[in-house]
Amino acid sequence: MNKKYISYMLIILIIVENAFTQSIITKTYNVDKTLANWTREKMLNAKTLHPPNKEFKVRNKAINSGEKDTISSDPVNAESEVNAPFSVGIKSEFEVNTPLPLGKLFFTLFNEDHSCTASIITTDDGNAGITAAHCLYSHGEYSNNIMFCPGYDNGTESFLGRIAVAKTSMLDTFINSLDEDYGGLKFDFNGSLQSTAGSFGWCIN
Ligand SMILES: *[C@@H]1O[C@H](CO)[C@@H](O)[C@H](O)[C@H]1NC(C)=O
Ligand SMILES: *[C@@H]1O[C@H](CO)[C@@H](O)[C@H](O)[C@H]1NC(C)=O
Ligand SMILES: *[C@@H]1O[C@H](CO)[C@@H](O)[C@H](O)[C@H]1NC(C)=O
Repeated sequence: MNKKYISYMLIILIIVENAFTQSIITKTYNVDKTLANWTREKMLNAKTLHPPNKEFKVRNKAINSGEKDTISSDPVNAESEVNAPFSVGIKSEFEVNTPLPLGKLFFTLFNEDHSCTASIITTDDGNAGITAAHCLYSHGEYSNNIMFCPGYDNGTESFLGRIAVAKTSMLDTFINSLDEDYGGLKFDFNGSLQSTAGSFGWCIN
């Protein structure tokens, strides 16, 4: 084995190791009581949850202000200028004035009712969404009673009403260091929420 070949192998091993050091942490929920936990009053009083007070970081490097402008202008982040390190594009077949793939996520964290923004994303499964990881987990505690309301607007639900979240996932990087602040949602929906409501394309860059 010559030297050059060995160094190629080392580089490949390092890349493979990096790909596997980011493990995905998932949590599943019993959704039987989720929807019943929320009254209209509780939903209206749910406080918007702000991101952890931490420098915006993507893959362990601080991003420059140009990149930050791009990210915070994404529809997903428009409400709170949060921080998900991916870009989204609206699939052309959806009417831009029908914002059903975007909605409010309601949840209880440390016994307080909160809300965040979440979106349905395009997947084979048809019932997946994305939100900020800090809406799903904080300081050793996982959110519960998680519910998504597609197209929810100031107390008014869309015809799709309320949908319980059956499973969440995030990278362990978020749990360990609050980096990579985005998390996946699996909706408890009979059928394909994506075909009913539409969805956003997505990528991780
Ligand atoms: C909602 O869930 C919380 C726990 O997160 C619980 O303390 C409360 O009793 C529940 N309320 C209702 C109406 O189910
Ligand atoms: C939300 O609805 C309430 C009445 O239900 C209204 O007073 C308020 O102005 C609305 N807020 C926005 C931002 O539309
Ligand atoms: C899901 O939808 C199908 C077809 O609409 C229906 O036959 C089935 O009973 C539903 N399942 C549940 C668990 O609601």
